[in-house]
Amino acid sequence: MESPSTLGLILLLLGSLVCQAQARAFFVFGDSLVDNGNNDYLLTTARADNYPYGIDYPTRRPTGRFSNGYNIPDLISQAIGSPSTLPYLSPQLRGQNLLVGANFASAGIGILNDTGIQFLNIIRITQQLEYFRQYQARVSALIGEEEARRLVNGALILITLGGNDFVNNYYLVPMSARSRQFPLPDYVVYIISEYRKILARLYELGARRVLVTGTGPLGCVPAELAMRSRNGECSVELQRAAGLFNPQLVQIINSLNAEIGSEVFIAVNTQMMHMDFVSNPQAYGFVTSKVACCGQGPYNGIGLCTPASNLCPNRDLYAFWDPFHPSERANRLIVQQILTGTQEYMHPMNLSTILAMDSRT
Ligand SMILES: *[C@@H]1O[C@H](CO)[C@@H](O)[C@H](O)[C@H]1NC(C)=O
Ligand SMILES: *[C@@H]1O[C@H](CO)[C@@H](O)[C@H](O)[C@H]1NC(C)=O
Repeated sequence: MESPSTLGLILLLLGSLVCQAQARAFFVFGDSLVDNGNNDYLLTTARADNYPYGIDYPTRRPTGRFSNGYNIPDLISQAIGSPSTLPYLSPQLRGQNLLVGANFASAGIGILNDTGIQFLNIIRITQQLEYFRQYQARVSALIGEEEARRLVNGALILITLGGNDFVNNYYLVPMSARSRQFPLPDYVVYIISEYRKILARLYELGARRVLVTGTGPLGCVPAELAMRSRNGECSVELQRAAGLFNPQLVQIINSLNAEIGSEVFIAVNTQMMHMDFVSNPQAYGFVTSKVACCGQGPYNGIGLCTPASNLCPNRDLYAFWDPFHPSERANRLIVQQILTGTQEYMHPMNLSTILAMDSRT
């Protein structure tokens, strides 16, 4: 027979568990690196809906994620104690599920509207932000305007943009329209100025903690090695693009934070997070960072990952799952740095610090 005080303690513990279950909401914007399956609901060729995508996901089935298993948003959701965010277009995203957050990302998109035009029907960033506004109206109807605002203000947000503005725009074809319009440094200044507007709009919409990833080492992905490399060295041109883009992104983040007077935007140095295992894969337990697990041709870097592609038996040994996207294991290394990285990786602070700070306020 429990004494009343033990019972009280149990109730208290249960109460705190219930409170914890209502973890902060999480919203995701961007491209295929963070798409949880929106494109499966669209008429587009930019989709991951075939075997062997998802081969290591708990269901062992494709989910629309460009990964063999979990992607970066999934692992962040796990870190904050939430279920994965549902794609905004999923019919399951209704009722209480809305309170977990939502994933608005869409493979193929970029900062610019003309990025990824070959994929036809994808959710461009302006539309993702419009859906975020729509989402807020739906949540307001559910829990009231004030609570909805609190949920959005208290949420964690992730945005991943920019890579496609190079690989699926400026460098998509030789003599692309954008490359005839701008020398590379001017193009970067232009897309960064557009990105600044997107981030400012997110703030207007209530975002208060936003992880902003830079681009990874674009020139080192298996697709670029296959197209542009002679001896397996990273493509100089795409590395130059990433090298121009990332520092300027940090500058606009600093300038926005200064303007707002608060550390709303956090720069995630994905370039450095990738370079650690790209330059020394063995140190991280990978057999290679040059060859994709799933693909065909040199470095398995040509075309898409399909049921007919080469497929490695152990995905954990490969840094790249397909010609463009990291494996789940590489995603785990990246999210570990997001959580606990030093200021070189996470500026001005890592996610553990954010979670600790925000739980006190
Ligand atoms: C992209 O398209 C949206 C919607 O049509 C428009 O509001 C926005 O200004 C466009 N962005 C650029 C950079 O042209
Ligand atoms: C997270 O960032 C804080 C502040 O920069 C730092 O003190 C801490 O060591 C980092 N966390 C870990 C686990 O490294």
